[in-house]
Amino acid sequence: MYSYPYDAVLFDLDGTLTNSEQGIIQSMLYALEQVGAKVPAGVNMRCVIGPPLMESLMGILGLPCEQAREAIGHYSRHFNREGMYQYTVYPHIRSILQMLRDGGVYVALATSKPVLPAMAVLNHFGLTHFFNRIITEEDNEKIVNKPELIRRALPERFGHAAMVGDRFYDVEGALQNHIDAIGAGYGFGTEDELLKAGATHVVPDTEALRAFLCPGATVPRGFFLSVEGLDGSGKTTQVDRLEKSLKEYGFSVLRTREPGGCPISEEIRHTILTTEHMEMCAPCEALLYAAARAQHVCEVIRPAVERGMLVLCDRFVDSSIAYQGGGRELGTDVVRQINAPAVGEMLPDATVYLNVDYRQALSRRHSASSLDRIEVESGEFHARVQAAYEELIHNDPKRFLVIDGQQDADTVAADVLDAVLNRLEPEIED
Ligand code: TMP
Repeated sequence: MYSYPYDAVLFDLDGTLTNSEQGIIQSMLYALEQVGAKVPAGVNMRCVIGPPLMESLMGILGLPCEQAREAIGHYSRHFNREGMYQYTVYPHIRSILQMLRDGGVYVALATSKPVLPAMAVLNHFGLTHFFNRIITEEDNEKIVNKPELIRRALPERFGHAAMVGDRFYDVEGALQNHIDAIGAGYGFGTEDELLKAGATHVVPDTEALRAFLCPGATVPRGFFLSVEGLDGSGKTTQVDRLEKSLKEYGFSVLRTREPGGCPISEEIRHTILTTEHMEMCAPCEALLYAAARAQHVCEVIRPAVERGMLVLCDRFVDSSIAYQGGGRELGTDVVRQINAPAVGEMLPDATVYLNVDYRQALSRRHSASSLDRIEVESGEFHARVQAAYEELIHNDPKRFLVIDGQQDADTVAADVLDAVLNRLEPEIED
């Protein structure tokens, strides 16, 4: 049994939940350029992350009031158009918010961002639903400042509360409200700045933040996502892009592949795929894929899902059913049986299938790099693989996210991300 140290936790946004460095600095540089102003010598642009905009423009960048007002208009337009999309959610933040909520802790946001951009960022990343209360500045000019924002964000009654933030404003605001101040040392302030302001505790990263806020708690089970498709379906490119996007949304992604993913299974991969072993019989091939999978599940996939990671796996047991069951004509049941001890209960929670006709996939593949022992197989072999995939999808339509892989790569990437986010976090608006 564990108990959390706080029954109310308040968070700052920029530099605490989200890494907003590029989004804010680029929007600020754009605004300065539009009003013909320059960054004063010796000013580190990271200092503009955290304070209200007017304070950054006038106090830090030295603009007169009228010019600062004009700059805000340019800043906001750039922010809405581009800046917001350059944000990323820090790793583990999603699980911290989830664990606090599951533990019955009151969770609130207290940010100096005005309501419109703050809500746009929270909605874009699907974070809004984690908060009991969201307190922002009303707009760029009516500033009530951090201590008052924190006061408004606190619940009517609480036992032990803390504010988590990355700048001295957050620490001072917390102390003025007589609550603990936890410094997010990974954000835009320095540890020195946070300690000097009186932080109760400074965490170096979000993993330490999780351990501090939720000591002893079990991290909720992660998610197992596999990606399937014929050779030449563009799978590897799409897995690269999906991995990058999911990390930007703050998911703790572990990317891996089959056959392979750990030393023993990578060695088996080489044995299976090399064209030196053209004599390999179909049962041997199926058993080797299953052997590689057994080690991969045991050493990589299961522990990562149990640690709360999102495992993104390029191919899994569906590939064996399609290629060895269908392509090699061993039959679906035999291949399932061979794989039962390897897979156990570790079936994917969702599977992206990149749907490309085998003729098109093969012509793409043949124009690419050197071919392995499976890719050199005939058109009929790949037609059987495709038919087996279609049957798998037909029998398990809930698990499969079927994406038209014949579109251009950008459209496919957008469709894949959309379908996956929809499955992972229906609250995300994209
Ligand atoms: P890859 O090119 O996607 O890395 O996959 C390697 C090849 O192995 C590909 O042609 C598909 C094949 N394969 C199977 O035949 N059965 C399996 O279980 C797996 C995982 C892959």
